[in-house]
Amino acid sequence: MSREWIRNRKADHYHRRATHEGYRSRAAYKLKEIDDRIGMLKIGSRVLDVGASPGGWSQVAKERVGDGIVVAVDLGDMPPIDGVSFIRGDISERATIDRIKDICQEFDVVLSDASPRLSGNKVYDRGRDLALCWSVMELAQEMLRPGGTTVIKMFQGDELIELREHFSIMYRSVDTLKPRSSLNRSSEVYLAFRRLLRDHPAPGA
Ligand SMILES: C[S@@+](CC[C@H](N)C(=O)[O-])C[C@H]1O[C@@H](n2cnc3c(N)ncnc32)[C@H](O)[C@@H]1O
Repeated sequence: MSREWIRNRKADHYHRRATHEGYRSRAAYKLKEIDDRIGMLKIGSRVLDVGASPGGWSQVAKERVGDGIVVAVDLGDMPPIDGVSFIRGDISERATIDRIKDICQEFDVVLSDASPRLSGNKVYDRGRDLALCWSVMELAQEMLRPGGTTVIKMFQGDELIELREHFSIMYRSVDTLKPRSSLNRSSEVYLAFRRLLRDHPAPGA
C-alpha cells in the first residue's frame, strides 16, 4: 500500500462523506473537528468566514450558530447558503473590510481557510500565502471582540512561529491543531487564537 494510495483513500473518504451529508467540501469536517475541540461556535455567535468558497465551513458555522450571523468572504463566487451573507472581494483590500462592517461591526469568531491559487513557484506562493495570513490577523485585530476566537490556516515553518509570536500579545492562548480530516502529507495546520478579555495598552501608552 503506497502512501499516495492511503492519501487518496482518505481524501476520497471525506469527499464521499461530504457529498452524502450535503456539504460542499470535505473541508467542512476540518472545521467540525476544530470546533469539537475548542467549542467556539455557539448559538447566537457572529462569525466571519474568510476564503469561504465553495462554502463547507460556512455551512457548518451556520448549523452551529443557529440565529447568529455568518458573513462569508471570498475572491471567487459562492452559491448562496440560507442565512449566510456573502461578499465577493479580496480580504486584503479596505473596500472589502468596509463592506463586512456594513453587515456587522464586531465578530465573536473569525475563521480563515483562505489560500491563494498556486502558481507552482514555491517561494512566490509561500510569500503570498503568508501575506494573506497577516491580512487576516490584522483584520481580526480590528474586528474580533475581546474574548473571541480566531482560527487561521497556515503552513508549518519559521513564518508560522514569527506570526504566532507577533500576535500573541493580544491573545491569551494559541493552540496548533491538525484535524484528522486534513491530509497528513499537507503541512497545513490551524492556529486557534483566543483573544484576551481586555487588550494590553500599547507599549509606552
Ligand atoms: C481551500 S478554499 C476554502 C474552502 C472553504 N473553507 C470550504 O469549506 O469550502 C480557499 C479559498 O480562499 C480564497 N481566497 C484566496 N485568497 C483570498 C483573498 N485574498 N480574499 C478572499 N478569499 C481568498 C480562494 O478563492 C478559495 O476559494
